[in-house]
Amino acid sequence: MVPDTAKSAPASALAVKPLSSVGAAEVEGIDLSQDLDPAEVAAVLAAIAGNPVLIFRNQRLSKDRQARFSGCFGELEGHIARLSDGRTFPTVHTLTNLGADGSLINMDVARLNWFWHTDKSYHAVPAFVTILHAVEVPPSGGDTQFSDARMAYDALTPGMKARIDGLRAVHDWVASRINSGTSPATAEQRRTRPPVSHPLVRTHPDTGRKSLYLGVHVSHIEGLPQAESAALLAELTDHIGQERFIYTHGWRKGDVVMWDNRCLLHRALPNYEIARHPRVLNRTVVVGTRPR
Ligand SMILES: [Fe+2]
Repeated sequence: MVPDTAKSAPASALAVKPLSSVGAAEVEGIDLSQDLDPAEVAAVLAAIAGNPVLIFRNQRLSKDRQARFSGCFGELEGHIARLSDGRTFPTVHTLTNLGADGSLINMDVARLNWFWHTDKSYHAVPAFVTILHAVEVPPSGGDTQFSDARMAYDALTPGMKARIDGLRAVHDWVASRINSGTSPATAEQRRTRPPVSHPLVRTHPDTGRKSLYLGVHVSHIEGLPQAESAALLAELTDHIGQERFIYTHGWRKGDVVMWDNRCLLHRALPNYEIARHPRVLNRTVVVGTRPR
């Protein structure tokens, strides 16, 4: 039990300050290292419903505290990928470019993140929120970009909206590895992660807004000839990559960024000296609901 004096500010003290027109906001007045009460959890959920990228500055979270904060929003999920020595990722896993001796580690997993995607879309029940805590950041670059897939959908022509209405895309870990040029999926991953199909236009379960749901994990669109499917995916990916839909987050040490995978795509930018500067982020993922 956390004594009242040590608790973070009441929910009414939360200040949500939009950073851009692309659904990103900075949240002040909350210490994520302390237990949140139900009103604070509700306030964070209300904030993310309106601003699908939330930024909490100057946070100091142990891995245990990050797991505790993340668990306020649902069940935590592990990672399909394996560390370079074959071990599984822990529930709170660390994204890093440099090993303990300062040398560049295997960037195979990280490379996949350089492509637009939405977390865990290769699962039948993909991610709700992902939470990253910046432990070490490079002096410049190493940004994460978010594309607001609601805005991107809204901006489509009526003709394109009619064309993609009702289409379903197949998301597949095997295809994801191929699309990103990373090491092939293992036999175990093929067995445990069969391809899944999701609507190409997803309706947000809380807000009812439609958004595009695609990314590097997609192999093809069901029912279309391969060439037509590839061309349509390329056109929509170009569309969501337009500057007008994007918020670029420049990391500061201590940032916690929490985003809603149900209406955003994101990617990491390799725009820093990867072999020289550490970029260390602790990551948790909360399970969502089946896309509709
Ligand atoms: Fe991701």
